[in-house]
Amino acid sequence: MKFDVIEGFRRLSAAFGPSGREQDAAQAITALVNDCVPDADRWECTKDAMQNLIYHRAGDGKKVLLAAHMDSIGVVVTHIDDNGFARFAQVGGLMLGDLIDCRVRFQNGTRGIISFEEKTPYKELGFDNLFLDIGAANREDAERLIRVGDFAVYDGEPFAQGGVIGGPYLDNRIGCVTLIAAMAQLEQAECDLYVAFTAQEEVGLRGAQTAAFGVQPDYAIAVDVTDTGDMPERKYPMAVKLGAGPAVKVMDRSVICDGAVRDALYRAAQTCGIPVQREIMEFGGTDTGVIQRTAGGVRVGAVSIPTRYIHSPNELAAVSDIEQAASLIAGVLKEDFFCET
Ligand code: CO
Ligand code: ZN
Repeated sequence: MKFDVIEGFRRLSAAFGPSGREQDAAQAITALVNDCVPDADRWECTKDAMQNLIYHRAGDGKKVLLAAHMDSIGVVVTHIDDNGFARFAQVGGLMLGDLIDCRVRFQNGTRGIISFEEKTPYKELGFDNLFLDIGAANREDAERLIRVGDFAVYDGEPFAQGGVIGGPYLDNRIGCVTLIAAMAQLEQAECDLYVAFTAQEEVGLRGAQTAAFGVQPDYAIAVDVTDTGDMPERKYPMAVKLGAGPAVKVMDRSVICDGAVRDALYRAAQTCGIPVQREIMEFGGTDTGVIQRTAGGVRVGAVSIPTRYIHSPNELAAVSDIEQAASLIAGVLKEDFFCET
């Protein structure tokens, strides 16, 4: 495959894009599509009111929607005190332990460090006991850089080593990279194809709901990260591991995938010689859930990238899983299931 997953991820990682503030991420996606998808000029690109970025390439077959959310988790400033320290609220699901001593960045490039009130015993810390330090002398000084209502995301460089990539925002820029890599292999697909990079997934699957309603597809496949069960002493067993191939979702908290779509994915995997894993994620949901329940209902499946430490500043995934996920999605669209008119 010509498409360079690591380079693609680096480019999308550089873009700021917490939920509700996805404009930079959308721009980076458009640039990557233009550079990497050979028939980019055949795709029509629009944005809806929710800021979902939707590509469409007209075809005669079934209407198929591929989706990946482009937003990332983050924090939003709620208050700045007289000494210039900021308080914040979560944008999406954060874990307290991930935030302590963590570095964040704002859209304007301002960096901050999250710390905690030392008078509270460490074990009793809640989000209310955390604060954000941008090194300001006082409130006035702080407000030159950040204001109440400003969003920030984890600050960190991605890295690649020995077949894995790490860094913040794998959830879900890596899903966006997967879809762009799939688009680059889809010249032959005959279905009426939509690819949506959705907004505000991390705050409750919000963008996908309007994107799917706007498209009203016959079928949809969403791409997102999923947990793995392969770390030492994990609390819950899970039959998904890093580097053993993309995971075909059976179920999560938001969805039970359509059996026929899931089977089409299994068949395509066999045809293409791609190993796949079977995913049941007991915690968390995905865009797939709201797409399924759009309008009169949509037949859905999902392909997941096995990822460790999801929602931490340092997520980890295998490059081969991402490449194979892209080939699987390109492959499944050639299945009769999607091709009948
Ligand atoms: Co997430
Ligand atoms: Zn996600």
